[in-house]
Amino acid sequence: MQVKVTVFKDYDEMSRAAADFVIDLIKANPQGVLGLATGSTPEGTYAEILRRKDELPDLSGLRTVNLDEYLGLAADHPQSYHYFMRKKLFDGLGLKPEQSFFPDGSNADPEAAHAAVIAYEHKLLELGAPFLQILGIGENGHIGFNEPASQFNTRTHVVNLSESTIQANSRFFNSADEVPKQAITMGVLTLMQASRILMLASGEKKAKALKGMIEGLVEPELPASILQMHENVNVFADEAAASLLSK
Ligand code: PGA
Repeated sequence: MQVKVTVFKDYDEMSRAAADFVIDLIKANPQGVLGLATGSTPEGTYAEILRRKDELPDLSGLRTVNLDEYLGLAADHPQSYHYFMRKKLFDGLGLKPEQSFFPDGSNADPEAAHAAVIAYEHKLLELGAPFLQILGIGENGHIGFNEPASQFNTRTHVVNLSESTIQANSRFFNSADEVPKQAITMGVLTLMQASRILMLASGEKKAKALKGMIEGLVEPELPASILQMHENVNVFADEAAASLLSK
């Protein structure tokens, strides 16, 4: 099945179209599970969803799951992905804390992290497949925190972040030294279970990874390339991110 690619003039146009897409699917699945991603790319989409929240149905039955969380940051740490989602989307939508699920990265002790991994995978199984999983793409082609050379047959697990991811994410911290070196992420197999995937890509820094993902070989060196094997993937990209794609 081919990945469906739509190219938008710029980030704002992409974000508006993505919000439309997500709002339609929430309307069709108000009791379902929505898979979310953090990072700069979906921020515009979340802002637009909040701007249009009057169009949304009653969300008291919606559940959300997130792809990943840093290991060693408590949920109320300003750089944690819990915190990001609360501020960028959940508070504005009025979602209760018990509607949203993340890997628990608060305790970096290996045994506690292992327990958090198992607990999250069980929770995902119990909730069932998301009707939609939103994804970004790393400059190195990662999805979630599945870094290059990850196995494709992974479920939720602890990862060592690659140097390129640490550098890319250091913009959110005072320095690269403060970026946690590990995270808990849904595995490739876990996130491939979503019924539908919407990947968002913006900016020329993503152009090479996006080209590889769509037009290259399916290979662990470019984790996002596995999406070629999923039967229902939309990519929304701005012109800069799409600049290396063939017609
Ligand atoms: P970004 O991150 O949206 O901040 O570029 C995307 C990702 O690393 O998956």
